[in-house]
Amino acid sequence: MAAWVEGRVIERIQWTDTLFSLRVDAQLLPYQAGQFTKLALERGEKRIQRAYSFVNPPSSPYHEFYLVEIPDGELTPSLGSLTVGDTLLVQSLASGFLTLDEIPAGRDLWLLSTGTAIGPFLSILAAGQAEQRFDNLVLVHGVRKGEELSYQPLIGELKARLGERLHYVPFVSRELWPDAMAGRIPAAIDSGALQERVGLSFSPEHSQVLICGNPEMVKATQLSLIEQGLAKNLRRTPGQISSENYW
Ligand SMILES: Cc1cc2nc3c(=O)[nH]c(=O)nc-3n(C[C@H](O)[C@H](O)[C@H](O)COP(=O)(O)OP(=O)(O)OC[C@H]3O[C@@H](n4cnc5c(N)ncnc54)[C@H](O)[C@@H]3O)c2cc1C
Ligand SMILES: NC(=O)c1ccc[n+]([C@@H]2O[C@H](COP(=O)([O-])OP(=O)(O)OC[C@H]3O[C@@H](n4cnc5c(N)ncnc54)[C@H](OP(=O)(O)O)[C@@H]3O)[C@@H](O)[C@H]2O)c1
Repeated sequence: MAAWVEGRVIERIQWTDTLFSLRVDAQLLPYQAGQFTKLALERGEKRIQRAYSFVNPPSSPYHEFYLVEIPDGELTPSLGSLTVGDTLLVQSLASGFLTLDEIPAGRDLWLLSTGTAIGPFLSILAAGQAEQRFDNLVLVHGVRKGEELSYQPLIGELKARLGERLHYVPFVSRELWPDAMAGRIPAAIDSGALQERVGLSFSPEHSQVLICGNPEMVKATQLSLIEQGLAKNLRRTPGQISSENYW
């Protein structure tokens, strides 16, 4: 059974009323960009635990998690009230297959996310190996409101480092927002609006696509990509679509 270790909150970033990040100091086993671990709090005899992706690249001296507080959620309201110096439990062994070593070769790496699921893609981009394996890196982030387009400073640093090879495409579905696409990711793939904005099309030869977040978005996006001629990437039958559901 995986061991739990104590972690200490060393920094907190509040992005909106409900979105926040925790930087945690904890002695964890080595992990890869794109993986997740579990965070837990003890409530009486009970340990309430949930999965959270690392936002930081594995070389960071801290572990960072990006969370949304679910109003009636069992764990996130308590994680949301942690402040610097507070402790929590962290599973020392990470898991997950949304990692570059699971992804076949390609030219264009598409990273499609909703909400807090941009986290593992920021880790992958910050880690620096993606740019060695792919010519084009496309980071797509779908949110309800413009203020939820978190991590702009880090995205700015990535743009500065990667230049035109990084295509950042925000989607805002519930209001008009400057420079963002309106609506939802799969609809924009179906219409070709996403491909037009980026200047790249989907093809089995060139594309590798990672999808992460809302399970309904994951399902709809998989179907849209299959319509574009791509196939799921399975260990036995390599393809172009890899995904992770957040719930
Ligand atoms: C592999 C994996 C990685 C994950 N990584 C993250 C992460 O980095 N950040 C994060 O915030 N959550 C992440 N989650 C979700 C997380 O594990 C919890 O489900 C979430 O924090 C809600 O916990 P809760 O106890 O407060 O809510 P619960 O009482 O468990 O309520 C769950 C409900 O909340 C909603 N919900 C859950 N997660 C989200 C979310 N991220 N965004 C919007 N609605 C959601 C869904 O409607 C779900 O049915 C991940 C889940 C998985 C499986
Ligand atoms: N975001 C907030 O303002 C907010 C505030 C307080 C609490 N919460 C809690 O957080 C949870 C929702 O968080 P969230 O807004 O990060 O996640 P979300 O509901 O998954 O929405 C994120 C993005 O995914 C899109 N989406 C949803 N279903 C889709 C589908 N089937 N196909 C394609 N795209 C889809 C949404 O578009 P649509 O807008 O078209 O659905 C939105 O742009 C809820 O449990 C809520 O209680 C959220």
